Amino acid sequence: MTAFLPQADFPAARPRRNRHDDFTRRLVREHTLTTDDLIYPVFIVEGTGVHQPVPSMPGVERLSIDALLPVAEQCLELGIPVLSLFPAIESHLKTPDGIEAANPDGLMPRAVRELKTRFPELGILTDVALDPYTSHGQDGIIDDTGYVLNEPTVEVLVRQALAQAQAGVDIVAPSDMMDGRVGALRRALDANGFIHTRIMAYSAKYASAFYGPFRDAVGSATNLGKSNKATYQMDPANRAEALREVAADIREGADMVMVKPGMPYLDVLRDVKLAFGMPTFAYQVSGEYAMIKAASANGWLDHDKVMMESLLAFKRAGGDGILTYFAIEAAKLLRQPR
Ligand code: PBG
Repeated sequence: MTAFLPQADFPAARPRRNRHDDFTRRLVREHTLTTDDLIYPVFIVEGTGVHQPVPSMPGVERLSIDALLPVAEQCLELGIPVLSLFPAIESHLKTPDGIEAANPDGLMPRAVRELKTRFPELGILTDVALDPYTSHGQDGIIDDTGYVLNEPTVEVLVRQALAQAQAGVDIVAPSDMMDGRVGALRRALDANGFIHTRIMAYSAKYASAFYGPFRDAVGSATNLGKSNKATYQMDPANRAEALREVAADIREGADMVMVKPGMPYLDVLRDVKLAFGMPTFAYQVSGEYAMIKAASANGWLDHDKVMMESLLAFKRAGGDGILTYFAIEAAKLLRQPR
């Protein structure tokens, strides 16, 4: 009596052969994660010597510019190519029109200037959006009904990007999802001589609940209250629409495109990379980070293994790089000899 009935081609085809030893597993490995793939997002605040923990993002702190410098140096040492800056703006500077965003001496331009002076070889990326600066927490200027007005918002975004470019930023990343903003930024940057300032467009950015901890970090959660961003960020139910968004941004001059959030949208990342072949990035957002941190703090997941697996998944899906709050932790692991 035989309990095991093999298929016709068995045992000629044995996929497990290639998995038998570490050396073959490495030899046939299709994708690898390197530190060159990582962009590290950080939160900055006014002051000196400030390290404010963000409770919903264990391990993440809001840092004053001076406190950020050692972090930037660490990124350089680890080989992380780009640091991405997000401001937590003092509430007395927040207004309905978010005009502080365009202040050439505001927190962000000062941080950019300082970083580019000290560490010119470290890439600096700045977010172009008004939510950290508006008293209502929306990414733009609103009318009486709370609707975010497209063109008036784009006008402020252009001024914001110019202030950042003037400060020497390498990459501007519009995360606002207004129509036509990439083209408007490109024209204004070129007209002012910033022909090398790159645009990484948050092209397929969804109206996601995974941004919760970020909104705590920049302090826009309370102001936003119960309102949402569904009239400008994409519907999580839509996939084909992401391709139209990306196509528009490429036409308008985007140098790199992004899909956000990350893990729940790997299908979109794959589609975008296959359709356009552009440098394509994924943003592993605050909520994704918080989930992994919380589950590992409870001993339910192996932190390092899940972190590395989640990052590798972006590469496998076709991503060229990842914005991730894990960048430093992952880079440290990648540096360790096998
Ligand atoms: C600002 C912006 C957001 C994020 C990046 N830029 C929040 C939002 O759109 O509400 C989210 C990043 C994260 O959750 O880690 N427009």
